[in-house]
Amino acid sequence: MNDPSARPEIAGTVSDMASYDKVIIGFPIWWGVAPRIIETFLESYDFSGKTIIPFCTSGGSGVGRSDEDLHKNVKGDVKWEKGTQINRPDETAIKRWLDGVL
Ligand SMILES: Cc1cc2nc3c(=O)[nH]c(=O)nc-3n(C[C@H](O)[C@H](O)[C@H](O)COP(=O)(O)O)c2cc1C
Repeated sequence: MNDPSARPEIAGTVSDMASYDKVIIGFPIWWGVAPRIIETFLESYDFSGKTIIPFCTSGGSGVGRSDEDLHKNVKGDVKWEKGTQINRPDETAIKRWLDGVL
C-alpha cells in the first residue's frame, strides 16, 4: 500500500465482461483508500459504456477520496456513480442500496 503503482495479481478473470451493463465494485478501505488489487481489476478491462458503482466497507472511515482515486485509473467512457460506505451486518440497508442502484 506504500507503493501507489503496486498492482497485485488477480487469480481469475471475467470472461464475459461485455455482457455486463453495470459493475458493482466493493472493497474494504485500507489506509483511507482501496486495496491496490482493485486497481488491478479496473485496469484489466475496458468498461466503456458501462456504469460502475463503487462501495466500500471500513472500520469507520467513509468512502473519502477512495472512489475518485479509482475513477482516475479507469480507461474509456464510463458512467461512474458516487461511492458509498456500507458496513455489515445491516442487510436492510444493503438491499435498499442495491434496489436503488440496479
Ligand atoms: C491494512 C488495513 C488497513 C485498514 N485501514 C482502514 C482505514 O483507514 N479506515 C477504516 O475505517 N478501516 C480500515 N481498515 C478496516 C477495514 O476497512 C475493515 O476491516 C473492512 O472493511 C471490513 O470488511 P469485512 O466486513 O468484509 O470484514 C483497514 C484494514 C486493514 C486490514
